[in-house]
Parts: sequence; C-alpha cells; structure tokens
Amino acid sequence: AYQARESLYVLSQFAATFFKEQLWDSDEGRSVGLSYFRERGFREDVIRKFELGYSPDVWDALTQQALNNGYAHQYLEATGLSIRNDKGRVYDRFRGRVMFPIHNFTGRVIGFGGRTLKTEKSVPKYVNSPESDIYHKSNVLYGLFQAKKAIRDANNCYLVEGYADVLSVHQAGVENVVASSGTSLTTEQIRLISRFTENVTILYDGDPAGIKASLRGLDMILEEGMNVKVVSFPDRHDPDSYMHAVGAAAFRTYIEENRKDFIFYKADILLAEAGNDPIKRAGIIRDIVESISKIPDSIKASVFVRECSRLLEVEERILLTELNKMRAARL
Ligand code: GTP
Ligand code: MN
Ligand code: MN
Ligand code: MN
Ligand code: MN
Repeated sequence: AYQARESLYVLSQFAATFFKEQLWDSDEGRSVGLSYFRERGFREDVIRKFELGYSPDVWDALTQQALNNGYAHQYLEATGLSIRNDKGRVYDRFRGRVMFPIHNFTGRVIGFGGRTLKTEKSVPKYVNSPESDIYHKSNVLYGLFQAKKAIRDANNCYLVEGYADVLSVHQAGVENVVASSGTSLTTEQIRLISRFTENVTILYDGDPAGIKASLRGLDMILEEGMNVKVVSFPDRHDPDSYMHAVGAAAFRTYIEENRKDFIFYKADILLAEAGNDPIKRAGIIRDIVESISKIPDSIKASVFVRECSRLLEVEERILLTELNKMRAARL
C-alpha cells in the first residue's frame, strides 16, 4: 500500500511538471494559457510559485507522455488524471485548461484543479481531481503549503473560496491565505488551520452563495474554539476581482479596515434583511445567540453576549438565559 501511494505522488509530480512545461514552453500553452493568466493580472513570480500549468487541448497528451515514460495505466486512473470510457479508450481528464496543482501541506502534489478558458455555460468552469488514496478533499486546503509560514508569522489565516482568490490575495502581499477549494469548508480543514493559528478571517465572495457559506463557516470555526472575523466585498466582487479592481495597496487597506467580528457581520446581514419587523428582529437575536453558544470557552462567550446586548439593545440577562437553554439542548 505504501508503494502504491508513493507511485501516485510521483505520477502527480510528473503531471505537474508536464503541465508547467506546457504552459511555459509550448506554443499553445504560451499563447492560450500564459496569456490568460496575464490578462487576469497574475504576475510571473506568482504563477511560478504556485506551479501553475496548462493542459493541451487534445485527447490524451498527458496520458501518452506518462505511458511513454513508463507510468502504468493503473496509476493514471487511480489519480484520476486519465479516464477510461466504456469502450476502453483512455483519455486525459484535463484538456485545454489552465492548471492549479494542489499540494498537501508538506508540498507534495496530490491533485489538480483545471479552469476552462471557454465562456460557454455548458462547460464546467472548474474540473477537479477526484478523491484518491493521496487526495482527500475534506482535509486539504489549497495554498496551505505556500501560506503556512506566513500564517504563523501573522497569527491569522485568511480563508477564501477559490484558487484565483488565493493567488490574487497572495500577490497583493497577503501571503497567509488558503481556500477550501473543491468542497464546502469542513471541520478537518479548520483543524488543519488550527495547527498554525487560532485566528481566521473569512474573505468569501460577495454573492448570495458566498454570504450563505460565510455564515455556515463562521459557526464551524467558532465550534472549534477559534476566533473568526469576516470581510465582505461590495458589488458581488470576490477577493480576486476586488484586488485587481482597486490594486494591491488599496486591497490591503480594505481588508484591514473592513474586518468585522463575526457578531457584527452577522448582525449587519440579518438586520438588513429584517428591517424593523419586531418578530424578525427577535429571530435575529436568537440566531446570533445561537452562534455565540457554539463558543466552547464560556468567558469568551460572555464577552460576545455583552457585545450582542449593546448592539441589539436587549438585556444581557435575557441573552444569557437563551444561551444556556441552547447549550443545555445540545448536551
Ligand atoms: P474564477 O472565475 O476563475 O475567478 O473562479 P472563482 O474561484 O471566482 O469561481 P467561483 O466563485 O464560481 O467558485 C469558487 C470555487 O468553487 C472555485 O475556485 C472552484 O474550486 C469551485 N468551482 C467553481 N466552479 C466549479 C465547477 O464548475 N465545478 C467544480 N467542481 N468546482 C467549481
Ligand atoms: Mn476520503
Ligand atoms: Mn462564487
Ligand atoms: Mn469567486
Ligand atoms: Mn473569481
């Protein structure tokens, strides 16, 4: 079993090198892939640091190259790099896409995300490697290998949604950034962050899906006993589009100045939805106390109860009663 896993790592590295060479050294890679990255504003040093690549737009470029180099079909299929159809034909999973290798936190390549360059709605925007013996999506964070030192130094981890967001935030000089790409945030991923810091700042997309995911994520982070803040972006921007719209310096200032403690973030979103309807306001208060009740440390929780009491103009005593009820209900 060890040897089989080792073979998957070696093949994944072979593929990453192949995609990288295609991006930098082939005509198609340079004219299609590299120009795409440049048009999006990604700098060369960042493209190299994250080992981005390009998969040629043909059926089996990687598969043939790997077979010629002695890699067995078995491993090509086990990593998901090759797919065998009903007729027994083997072809590349990634074709005509810009490639984002996914590293584990020790730096070994374990999978890939590939973005299409087409704009048709019928083509999936991203294709990702399937789960394999070396790639378990639920306990991998994209960018952690490149970010871990900066996370420790800053004692904070920025959490974004996508590959492009990681690159752009990193490029803006904020290197302590990771994404839960390919899956919605899991408890295992949060525990992975907690090895390096107990402070997380969520930078999700400013669209309804991103806002919903941020509310879910912040409760999960609180449950792990970590501190969580959130920065929201205007006009449906995501961190990537916002960084390129305003530039690196303004981006850094923005995330410094618009970082909100989870309680204020949540209150802002919910109050905007509820307006002055008293019944809805009561629901919001309960919803926020619900988040506070996830915090394992009761001293920390009591500080947030006080904040919440001030913010929503409800007596602290009432909030505490509610909080204790929720805790008891979960025992
Ligand atoms: P860009 O358009 O390249 O900036 O992508 P994005 O990261 O902004 O995309 P989006 O916000 O739509 O999605 C966030 C993340 O979800 C992506 O980085 C992918 O990991 C994943 N994702 C997006 N679209 C797809 C898809 O069609 N299929 C799969 N499997 N994952 C996707
Ligand atoms: Mn698994
Ligand atoms: Mn989105
Ligand atoms: Mn996005
Ligand atoms: Mn984007």
